[in-house]
Amino acid sequence: MKNLFIVANWKANKTEEEALLWFKNIEEGLSKHTIDFEHKEIVVCPSVFLLPILSHYIRTQELPMQLGSQDISQFGRGPYTGEVPASLLHKYIRFCLIGHSERRKLLHEDDKILEKKADIAVGSIALPIFCVESHKQKVPEGIKIVAYEPVGAIGTGSPDTPENARIVAATLKEKYDIPYVLYGGSVTSQNVKSFTSMPSIDGVLVGGASLDPLEFLKVVENA
Ligand code: PGA
Repeated sequence: MKNLFIVANWKANKTEEEALLWFKNIEEGLSKHTIDFEHKEIVVCPSVFLLPILSHYIRTQELPMQLGSQDISQFGRGPYTGEVPASLLHKYIRFCLIGHSERRKLLHEDDKILEKKADIAVGSIALPIFCVESHKQKVPEGIKIVAYEPVGAIGTGSPDTPENARIVAATLKEKYDIPYVLYGGSVTSQNVKSFTSMPSIDGVLVGGASLDPLEFLKVVENA
């Protein structure tokens, strides 16, 4: 059986209390679900301010989960007000998202900025996940995981077709020599299997459906 990455992208949601309650619910729910953790890597990407407390929680409760950040600074440590550089983050995370379409659009992150971020992440974060909206967007060197997220599918309830996602994932793998491609955009517990059963798709990036712990557990179980 192949290995899958199931990545929760909480975006700008959840207070500290809500985040801890989510993890408590996941912990309780785990006993009721049969999840093959050997072959499924579960990653949660919360707001950056939650990383220390959640990393502590995951460690002390020995939960089979990893953390990721939703972004990484293009700068190092120093006079960059508001930025969170890789060197301050890396102790809490194994993964980080780069180039999510919301950041490309709302924060005007272009190829040049994303290349700097990827460069920094590749040198300091175990597994950066570079997001693209199509196979035409550039993937920087050194990236091993790409998330294909077509804009029209994000948060709309209208996912891409599994067949099209399969083709784009296969094209990305071939074009950039990438071992892992994830699909993201309106993934739910109902449709997840249609994507993860595709031979070129190695997991999913889940936004809205990851906010409810029980729905997220179902996504993981059904993947
Ligand atoms: P969605 O978001 O699952 O709510 O469509 C996915 C994402 O933006 O990563």
